[in-house]
Amino acid sequence: MDYIPPKSAIECYSESLYSDVQIRKMKKTKNIALSCMAGLDGWCSREKATILMDLLFLKRPKKVVEIGVWGGKSLLPMAMALNENKRGVIYGIDPWKNDASAYMLEGEHLDWWTQVDHERIYEGFISTIQLYHLGDVVEVIRASSKDAKIIEEIDFLHIDGNHSEASSLSDVKKWVPHVKKGGLIILDDLDYGEELEGGATTKKAAEWLDSNCTRFLQFKAEKNEWAVWVKS
Ligand SMILES: C[S@@+](CC[C@H](N)C(=O)[O-])C[C@H]1O[C@@H](n2cnc3c(N)ncnc32)[C@H](O)[C@@H]1O
Repeated sequence: MDYIPPKSAIECYSESLYSDVQIRKMKKTKNIALSCMAGLDGWCSREKATILMDLLFLKRPKKVVEIGVWGGKSLLPMAMALNENKRGVIYGIDPWKNDASAYMLEGEHLDWWTQVDHERIYEGFISTIQLYHLGDVVEVIRASSKDAKIIEEIDFLHIDGNHSEASSLSDVKKWVPHVKKGGLIILDDLDYGEELEGGATTKKAAEWLDSNCTRFLQFKAEKNEWAVWVKS
């Protein structure tokens, strides 16, 4: 089957950057990632996964960190890109625990995260890593962002954990200082809880990033707004 880019996805590669063989291999890897994603629990869209993979093909990072993994819908496409690059490891930090997920949330978000079966999602994630032979590129850290040991010299950081104001702000403050100069930082769900009185709960984290890094890409889909910053 031919690779068809999802609508609105950026294709970063060009013939001046990559050979025909490389482009064919990257497209094949994307196809596999997109079909894997179809069976996973989570929120990452096909468009976002495609862009994340393109950025990883382009940057060829050594250390990628994701805060908030859930079923691996964003992590596994990134792991496949690293596998294709034959370079790099992705650390997935997530406690897979109801109380961590529900911490400081309100309304329907609180109800949902309090009840959902985290153990089932974790087990599904681990078996998908095995199914796609990604054990060498994925390091699972079952801990909260706050408790996880610092990882130094991060090249690429994807923050998609608990979206409360306190947690998202503490995620950027804890992890961004360990991103290398020129490294990329992605904050997901910039519009999370924007229906609430105080507005989006991730707003302060995004403002902190704007003050400390340079925002250079912004994406807005029907249900998700996210952006990419470069560490200065
Ligand atoms: C929005 S989901 C992640 C979605 C996933 N990245 C995707 O694209 O499908 C949020 C995740 O954050 C995790 N989480 C909650 N509190 C956390 C914390 N303090 N540190 C790290 N992860 C946390 C939850 O267990 C859940 O898996």
